[in-house]
Amino acid sequence: MNLEALEQLLQDTKANAEQAIAAADSIDALRSAESKVLKGPLADALKNIKQFDAADRGRAGQSINAAKKDVQMLFADAQTKLMSADVASERKKSADFDPTLPPPLKRRGAFHPVTAVQREVERLFRGLGFAVVGGPEMETEFYNFEALNIPEMHPARDSQDTFWLTNGWLLRTHTSPCQVRAMQRFGPPMRVIAPGRCFRYEAIDASHENTFFQLEGLLIDKDISIAHLIAFMKLLLRQVFQRDVEVRLRPGFFPFVEPGFELDMSCAICDGKGCPTCKRSGWVEILPCGMVHPNVLRHGGIDPHEYTGFAFGLGLTRLAMMKYGVGDIRILNSGDLRGIVHPDRLQGERIA
Ligand code: DAH
Repeated sequence: MNLEALEQLLQDTKANAEQAIAAADSIDALRSAESKVLKGPLADALKNIKQFDAADRGRAGQSINAAKKDVQMLFADAQTKLMSADVASERKKSADFDPTLPPPLKRRGAFHPVTAVQREVERLFRGLGFAVVGGPEMETEFYNFEALNIPEMHPARDSQDTFWLTNGWLLRTHTSPCQVRAMQRFGPPMRVIAPGRCFRYEAIDASHENTFFQLEGLLIDKDISIAHLIAFMKLLLRQVFQRDVEVRLRPGFFPFVEPGFELDMSCAICDGKGCPTCKRSGWVEILPCGMVHPNVLRHGGIDPHEYTGFAFGLGLTRLAMMKYGVGDIRILNSGDLRGIVHPDRLQGERIA
């Protein structure tokens, strides 16, 4: 080979390199193209440097090395270009994702059926001018029994029903202790409701649990009569069920009311035919109520000659069962999620 032929070969090699660079679409492709070009005729020419006339060898060697460098430069440039193109396209992609933006807000969670009916009843009574109050779950004997005119020997005090605490207090067996607490706090005239958890030492079955919810109601004013009581109770049930519910009112004995009533509703689980939930009677005791006993008013510091009032103890857990068609109270205290009520759909659906 002479210098002229070498010149041609070097030019061809550069052209080859340019072609390979144009065709390469990744860094890896560039690298393998580069080693192919460098190992080709260029390397052969260097290896066979002796085929040149001795006088030309120096120049031939220099030209080959210079060409090799040129080729390497071409590939290095191409690689830099490709890398920055990669970075740019990554940047473009990540422009669609802004890590500083807050996450899309998803409404999570739902109301327990008892909470759902509790909120409905609260809304209704708030609209009627009632205050929503609470009371302690750990109560004294005084508020749970004595202030409510429940004498020492009354069966409701039976240790069978009450969880007694070692400090002499107890877990409230009903929300009625909120009555006297509220009387002492507000004084007459007054309207309050007090929703809350209650506890009884009870054998558990489809309609009894040791933990359940009630909602106490109390209205005290001048000249309050049974007619007011019945009107409020009817309104309450109509509002919760959004239809006329079949009810029956019968006398009931509770030491803290006189007269006292049991207000039952037709069982919504069996449509009044009789099932384990209603103990096969077709009726469910849902809303015991009555006119506040004078002794209870006195315990609350209210003069019974001046004021009268009515009280009710709505069975919130039972109401939730009736409203959402939950046939077994144990489901409500379990992790069974079928009964949950989405906040947007407080009316809920009937579940088996
Ligand atoms: N506290 C009673 C219970 O749990 C229910 C009750 C009855 C509450 C009559 C009242 C009432 O306010 O007037 O068995």
